[in-house]
Amino acid sequence: MSHPSFRLSLRFILPLILVLGLGAYLVVPLMDALTLRWSLRDLDTRSRVLAAALQEPLADYANDKSTTRIRQLFNRAIDDDRLYALAFCNTDDVIIASTASYPEALGCRNTGSGDALRQPLVRLPQGPIHVAESLLTGDAKPLGKLILVHDMRFIERRSADATRYVMLLAGILALVISAITLLVAHLSWHDWMKGVRRLLRGELMPLSETPAAVAPPEMQPLVGDVRALMREYHLERLGAPAVSEPWTADKLRTLLDGELAGDQVLVVSNREPYIHIDTPAGIEVRRPASGLVTAVEAVMRACSGTWIAHGGGSADRQTVDRHDHVRVPPDNPSYTLRRVWLSKEEERGYYYGFANEGIWPLCHIAHVRPVFRTSDWDRYVEVNQRFAEAVISEARSDDPVVLVQDYHFALLPRMVREVLPRATIITFWHIPWPNSESFGICPWREQILDGLLGSTILGFHTPFHRKNFLDSVDRYLEARIETEASTISYGGALTQVENYPISIAWPESDDSDNLPVAEVRARVRNALALAPNCLLGIGVDRLDYTKGIIERFQAIERMLELSPGMVGKFTFVQIAAPSRSSLEEYQAFEVRVRALAQRINLRFGRPGYLPIVLKAAYHDQQQLQQFYRAADVCMVTSLHDGMNLVAKEFIAARNDESGVLILSQFTGASRELHEALLINPYHVEEGANALLRALTMPAIEQRERMRSMRSLVRNFNVYRWAGHMLRDAARLRQRERVMSKIHSHSRRSRRQAV
Ligand code: G6P
Repeated sequence: MSHPSFRLSLRFILPLILVLGLGAYLVVPLMDALTLRWSLRDLDTRSRVLAAALQEPLADYANDKSTTRIRQLFNRAIDDDRLYALAFCNTDDVIIASTASYPEALGCRNTGSGDALRQPLVRLPQGPIHVAESLLTGDAKPLGKLILVHDMRFIERRSADATRYVMLLAGILALVISAITLLVAHLSWHDWMKGVRRLLRGELMPLSETPAAVAPPEMQPLVGDVRALMREYHLERLGAPAVSEPWTADKLRTLLDGELAGDQVLVVSNREPYIHIDTPAGIEVRRPASGLVTAVEAVMRACSGTWIAHGGGSADRQTVDRHDHVRVPPDNPSYTLRRVWLSKEEERGYYYGFANEGIWPLCHIAHVRPVFRTSDWDRYVEVNQRFAEAVISEARSDDPVVLVQDYHFALLPRMVREVLPRATIITFWHIPWPNSESFGICPWREQILDGLLGSTILGFHTPFHRKNFLDSVDRYLEARIETEASTISYGGALTQVENYPISIAWPESDDSDNLPVAEVRARVRNALALAPNCLLGIGVDRLDYTKGIIERFQAIERMLELSPGMVGKFTFVQIAAPSRSSLEEYQAFEVRVRALAQRINLRFGRPGYLPIVLKAAYHDQQQLQQFYRAADVCMVTSLHDGMNLVAKEFIAARNDESGVLILSQFTGASRELHEALLINPYHVEEGANALLRALTMPAIEQRERMRSMRSLVRNFNVYRWAGHMLRDAARLRQRERVMSKIHSHSRRSRRQAV
């Protein structure tokens, strides 16, 4: 048997058997000595009793000098099989009468004085015997002595029996203890291995479907090590010189010019990176509150190309050329934005309906039920087709690199593939992918999977979501899945499914254009009419039910309840950009958030002090930077989040290496930012305790944590995210080109042969 639990147990069992054996070995002689002492005492008593019984007749016979009667008396007495022999000696130590069995060698042995025998044990060739002497008197004068000999071989038999029993008992004990040990070891090993496997699969890491899936206490010491190992392994796998050589916009450009030979890059997303809005003061340009846009925009600046998106701004039409193009960023144009127009009805069905009432809640599992309507689905199909046509019309060659963004365009990869079979289509799913069972709720699940498998590469933030996707394909499509290689072969084409954790563009210079933190702190506190030393918390989110804003407020309330000393000293600013507000679910959510903030403010507020400042309005990046830099703590408490870039933005903003990040274990970011205070946002007390801990954390600990997280985000930036996807794409493209050359060469050779 080679089971590890068995081998492990052997290490325990062998010494145990040795100890028990040694114990038995030492105990047996002790027991022998004890048994002998007891037996001797027994025989002494027995001899005294026998001598007393024989005293009277023996004295009579001795007086009569009747040796025959003495012998008869003796022979009757030795019927007792332990009494071996008897002899009677006169006062001159001459044997007067004895039994035939009396050993001659004993003679009239004079080994003791009176009744007490000093050396009762005598070893004869036939075995050990016990000799006792008893003085015989008659009419007050000595007549001689009676010698009683007992057979002691029964003691040896008794001792041998006892030894056998002790050894048997030791053996049984060893067996029982070994069996129990084996069983316990096997069960613990089994559980432990189960834990390690889950750890390696990432299920015990912060992001999991069930909040309860955290590592059990005995695994806790290992979690950090396993994560570090996984990170190292991941780096190795990506062949990354990582920490020493961060990815930059330049490096990404070089990759595009070199490995992708300057091929055209087309991005498709629903949300556009720049929105033109009509205002009384004229046309204003806005950047939307979207992590996706922030990340992809940095990549587009680096690689030019064309970004195709929905033109949703009120002044968008006025700012495009006749091809619906506008060069962006407005202050330093480096790529083209191509706008696609949607009617109100299309937007309602495709964006609000299918994407945000259907797929969004379906994938986030945040206790809001997905709603699926056929009319929404029809719009979704139409709009995907419209965007696919835009991609095709923008393509200058038959093999562009198309970067498809998010759940709005699950069908588009297949639609583009059908027209441009040689295109390299990289689709990135920015939100979680649910387990296959939850995904199965979607009535058009097969079509969605089929659409996505039109991609060359399909990316998720975490291995967990990637695995959920593979499981869903396995369950609902006839496809071949190579789990090791993470590829899906479907309809004769191959899709590589990978995880690429998204990130932000690290600020060019660490000093940045920002004012020093101390100054920003003072300004922000002043603007909020807070005391200069007031502790400040910050939350930055879209007003979305997946972000855990309610749970965050509840944690703040509990913290103030538990630490009344913080009342008046701590204020939390929640920046909540309105989002998808025409949906009922979002309107109801906003009402709940406002009501809760108000209730907490009524409970703990006082003139000149509010514990929660709710700013339900859009804030630009510069304003957000001020809050990030002024805060003592940033709370990211999403109930489920693909990545969450606010966490990374906060870290990037803190070049003073202070401030604490509280991070939900259900965000993709928690897989990387291990030095944040990780919490389960559903657990109010856990959130409250983390908040208090953050507010009282010594500066040195803050610096250690922040420094480590900053070095990670600096290196694992958005250029690395895009760089890895594009490098993988370049490799696949190269393979594709070689394969098609080989095919055409072999076709030519066959033709010539004919
Ligand atoms: C999430 C989605 C993005 C989306 C963003 C903002 O991050 O993954 O695709 O752009 O939210 O939402 P919105 O609906 O306003 O574009």
